Amino acid sequence: MEEKKKYARTLVTTALPYANGPVHIGHLAGVYVPADIYVRYLRLKGEDVIMIGGSDEHGVPITIKAQKEGVTPQDIVDRYHKIIKDSMEGLGISFDIYGRTTSETHRKTASEFFKTLYDKGEFIEKTSMQFYDEEADQWLADRYITGTCPHCGNEGAYGDQCEVCGTSLNATDLINPKSAITGNVPVLKETKHWYMPLDKWEPRLRQWILEEHKEWKTNVYGQCKSWLDAGLQPRAVTRDLDWGIPVPIEGAEGKVLYVWFDAPIGYISNTIDLLPEDWEKYWKDPDSRIIHFIGKDNIVFHCLIFPAMLMAEGSYQIPDNVPANEFLNLEDDKISTSRNWAVWLHEYLEDFPGKQDVLRYVLTANAPETKDNNFTWKDFQDRNNNELVAILGNFVNRAIVLTNKYFDGVIPEAHELTDYDRATIEEFKGVKDELGKALDTFHFRAALAEAMKLARIGNKYLADTEPWKLAKTDMARVETIMNIALQITANLAIAFEPFLPFSAEKLRKMINLESADWNKLGSIDILSAGDRVEKPVLLFEKIDDETIKVQTDRLERIKQENILKNFTPKAVAPTVSFDDFQKLDIRVGKVLTCEKVKKADKLLKFTIDDGMKGRTIVSGIAKFYNPEDLVGKEVCFIANFAPRTLKGIESQGMILSAEDADGRLVVIGPHGEVRPGVQVG
Ligand code: 2FM
Ligand code: ZN
Repeated sequence: MEEKKKYARTLVTTALPYANGPVHIGHLAGVYVPADIYVRYLRLKGEDVIMIGGSDEHGVPITIKAQKEGVTPQDIVDRYHKIIKDSMEGLGISFDIYGRTTSETHRKTASEFFKTLYDKGEFIEKTSMQFYDEEADQWLADRYITGTCPHCGNEGAYGDQCEVCGTSLNATDLINPKSAITGNVPVLKETKHWYMPLDKWEPRLRQWILEEHKEWKTNVYGQCKSWLDAGLQPRAVTRDLDWGIPVPIEGAEGKVLYVWFDAPIGYISNTIDLLPEDWEKYWKDPDSRIIHFIGKDNIVFHCLIFPAMLMAEGSYQIPDNVPANEFLNLEDDKISTSRNWAVWLHEYLEDFPGKQDVLRYVLTANAPETKDNNFTWKDFQDRNNNELVAILGNFVNRAIVLTNKYFDGVIPEAHELTDYDRATIEEFKGVKDELGKALDTFHFRAALAEAMKLARIGNKYLADTEPWKLAKTDMARVETIMNIALQITANLAIAFEPFLPFSAEKLRKMINLESADWNKLGSIDILSAGDRVEKPVLLFEKIDDETIKVQTDRLERIKQENILKNFTPKAVAPTVSFDDFQKLDIRVGKVLTCEKVKKADKLLKFTIDDGMKGRTIVSGIAKFYNPEDLVGKEVCFIANFAPRTLKGIESQGMILSAEDADGRLVVIGPHGEVRPGVQVG
């Protein structure tokens, strides 16, 4: 029995990407592909749903990019808004509206929202000390201040973070702070800002999330719980900046709304632009539900800050669910816009024309739903060749080709069913429930696997019944088999519509199925005998090694460029004398055995041939090597390092290693044959 719906309509929002760069596969896998699958699924069921998206066009990263290029922030957002909007459309992300936060509707909506909270006395005003560049006559956001990191000595640390040692900083922590605009020493001046007292909303947020939404994804629930348990503090919602929405009150000249205050209001303003008359129904009617699709770095804003803003305003609903995803890595490395370490959507669409669904498929099959996940070009190729081509494409192609061959494209009638036919039909009947359940609970990987199961059932059915062998002897049986195979094909056209909309459409055209109807999923009378199918169209084609190599070569080039560009060696340590140096007894040794230390995921235990009686050394490099790969290698070690006991093992020395460009430790050894025990000097 269909579960009774508890809502009349659904508002789906997708995180507004910053318009300071194009979108990449991380954005897609985390937010836009799952949201699109979900929305297409609800539409397929005939539900009332709207999908809201748009570009986030304010904030400091945009002004910095503009300054670097010598253009205006408006130039930057105009450029990237277009690239993002066009490429999302190219991938079939079916927004009902894709707007922007520099629109007039947005300025008005965000201003009024702030004003309402201000008039209700929902803000607190506070003064604080902040850096100011007197020559540029400008307040300095944290990113606009550089200086020496107090932790590692890196002289190019930013006011919010040192990118060499990764520590997050306050601008006032920096040694010798400098303005990134003029290079001058900035002065500290007092400034006034408006704060959301999040502590005031903490009890309600606690009750709402921790008590009433235990069904949320564990990664989301867990992150909210740890924020709430740590206690919420007031957060400034205004900034001293000249790019953004002016703070609409007296005494706030030169100040703008904090980008994280205006961006989520972008969901509201875009809904207003989409439905000027009807928008309130989606936001304010208790029969509506709101779902925010976001990445994990946005959880605090969507689960705590924006809901607190909505509660303070008073007339809005708060979200029903926030199915945030974790991050997608690329070839085992963090995706990074500044390091150009990404597969950019607009470039993918150029390099792989007509293959939107391959990317959608791979990103869904590999979605970082519960933990960070990895995209590799090899996996992309494998999934295309072994799953889309070999299973889904192969089945559909055979069904259509055989129908054309034996019946001139006319769908044959099914006669008496065998037990095997009945068992097959029984097997795919369950797909609808399973698929629906997985989609309803935002388990998109599992849902895709369920849809693929249907294709596997079809493939197996044709392989087992072998209609091509029966064609000479038992045409009536072939008619039944092909009718069932075509009904499975029709089921596939419905089941895959949310995931692979381009291929599902081609498939529908091939079998002349006018529209996909979710209710028909699982049945064997979707197509009528006597109707026609068209000539076969290939849904997927093999991707060869050459094509993949173009992509991996590109990434290799970027990696090399980054190594040259981004590496700042640490400052040289204080001078030592030759005598000091000689105190360290560094030697060459040969690895005899190497194994993982039990219950210690970082440690490897080595036995080393040191030219004497041998020794044991424990080293923290287990994450970077397979132990067996090190056996027989020559390594350098400190022979007179004071022994230490690690996990109950006495370590008699230290193996030397250095960090590579990816942050992995690489063991140091000689470049020629050197006898074990020889000193390095
Ligand atoms: O993290 C980001 O890319 C932000 N621009 C997301 C904003 S989501 C929403 F609040 F608009
Ligand atoms: Zn540092």
